[in-house]
Amino acid sequence: MAGPTELAGGGVKETAAEEEPRVLEPGAAPFGNFPHYSRFHPPEQRLRLLPPELLRQLFPQSPKNEPILGLDVGCNSGDLSVALYKHFLSLPDGETCSDASRELRLLCCDIDPVLVKRAKKECPFPDALTFITLDFMNQRTRKVLLSSFLSQFGRSVFDIGFCMSITMWIHLNHGDHGLWEFLAHLSSLCRYLLVEPQPWKCYRAAARRLRKLGLHDFDHFHSLAIRGDMTNQIVQILTQDHGMELICCFGNTSWDRSLLFFRAKQTTETHPIPESLIEKGKEAGNRLRFQRQ
Ligand SMILES: C[S@@+](CC[C@H](N)C(=O)[O-])C[C@H]1O[C@@H](n2cnc3c(N)ncnc32)[C@H](O)[C@@H]1O
Repeated sequence: MAGPTELAGGGVKETAAEEEPRVLEPGAAPFGNFPHYSRFHPPEQRLRLLPPELLRQLFPQSPKNEPILGLDVGCNSGDLSVALYKHFLSLPDGETCSDASRELRLLCCDIDPVLVKRAKKECPFPDALTFITLDFMNQRTRKVLLSSFLSQFGRSVFDIGFCMSITMWIHLNHGDHGLWEFLAHLSSLCRYLLVEPQPWKCYRAAARRLRKLGLHDFDHFHSLAIRGDMTNQIVQILTQDHGMELICCFGNTSWDRSLLFFRAKQTTETHPIPESLIEKGKEAGNRLRFQRQ
């Protein structure tokens, strides 16, 4: 996994994706539950690729003043969740509370209770962001917790799901079928999806890190049939198997991860997709080759 190496002078430099971010990485983190993830993958790198007006354009305020509902899966300690919230509402730095919670509400979940505890403690917008401990692959708990959140708003699906740098961990821990199911659940739960898949080189780096620490290999690493160009693989699964369409790729972060934006095909569109996104979508379609590998 890419990460910065601390330099003698106190600065940081990006290492190649397969190098070990030794200084900041305290352990193997088998679920990607790194305690200080945002220090080596800062939210800003992703935010600068995302148009701040995106959500307001897709979901102009409803007459009933219903908030936009977002789901952040694998939120870690909440740094990216908070940054996304501020970015899409264009809140200035330093703002700690706002009545914007009426406009956007995020349910943020992570498998690691220690990270969730920290996220709750440090969140500057407790009315707008709800953090819960949830193994998203546990069907029963997922259904109970997500339905309970959605029912507060009289809704059955989220407007948008954020799935940022988590697909690899689901894939390594639950295999091909697990990844397929994970994407199926997300597609059925969200009208729009923003997905940042990890490239295959990160899988090799994660497996090597475990070996170096003398720990067991990931159960599924050697038997994965879905491999290679993970961006295309995920586009394939979502568009061919799970009824999503790729609207656009917002670009690539400096550590070589694409930000892919999808929409559920059956979404009844009351507001057209902005022209600028359609253009980006065409570019993405040219760049990504949608072929099963
Ligand atoms: C690499 S971090 C990404 C954090 C954040 N989304 C970001 O991009 O900055 C992956 C996160 O996914 C969480 N995770 C892994 N498997 C999970 C699961 N089955 N259910 C919920 N969270 C999970 C990990 O605990 C970890 O915090």
